[in-house]
Amino acid sequence: MKQEMMKIVSQKQLAPRIFELTLTGELVKEMGTPGQFIHIRVPRADLLLRRPISINHIDAEKQTCRIIYRVEGEGTKEFSQLQSGDLLDVMGPLGNGFDLTGLNKGDIAFIVGGGIGIPPLYELSKQLLKKGVTPIHFLGYASKEVMYYQEEFEGLAETRFATDDGSFAHHGHVGHLLEEAVQTIPPAAVFACGANGMLKAVESQFKEHPNVQLSLESRMACGMGACYACVCHVKDDETGNKSVKVCDEGPIFKAGEVVL
Ligand code: FES
Repeated sequence: MKQEMMKIVSQKQLAPRIFELTLTGELVKEMGTPGQFIHIRVPRADLLLRRPISINHIDAEKQTCRIIYRVEGEGTKEFSQLQSGDLLDVMGPLGNGFDLTGLNKGDIAFIVGGGIGIPPLYELSKQLLKKGVTPIHFLGYASKEVMYYQEEFEGLAETRFATDDGSFAHHGHVGHLLEEAVQTIPPAAVFACGANGMLKAVESQFKEHPNVQLSLESRMACGMGACYACVCHVKDDETGNKSVKVCDEGPIFKAGEVVL
């Protein structure tokens, strides 16, 4: 983990409130594991907490990385106003990332994403393809209006879409698409990132599966395991006291490991 003033290469709006930011700096050399995140200081003195944002794409050759974020409050609103050439105070990469060991050439992996949980799955898919694993993407959005990265995912591998309001592709939850797919395709691994409701659906769909990895969304403060702002409870713990820190021990957990 390093801290650096990274330079903004470009900023692009992808959908209402959704932005893509490309950054460059030495810190890219530290990046490699999909599913990790960076912790960014908001360039405004009164906003003290950094914002954790997952890494969407790593380009080692160009020494750039991309993040995609949704404007949720003052901090992310500040990010959306930044322009190329501006500097951002970035710490990272943080978190454990997805574990690709155990997957072999010819395996099929399901990649399941919802809303603003979708970005880190792009780098994951790229790296699976590099290993000779075939990803199938299942992506869910609230509506057609807020969809982004359709072409990017379709450019990598087969992609199936769902929207909550039915304005594009399948009408309903992305979990419905999985129910259909498992009838004919047995995946060697399932990777998911999104809101808790979606992760619960994935967990119950693949109860007996040995390799299901869930990336949790959590509010964070320090981002480094020091403040306990991001704890969640461990499953099957009779005392009810055992907890894990999402920023440090996660954000990726095996299905069944933590209480969603
Ligand atoms: Fe401080 Fe996780 S954010 S311990």
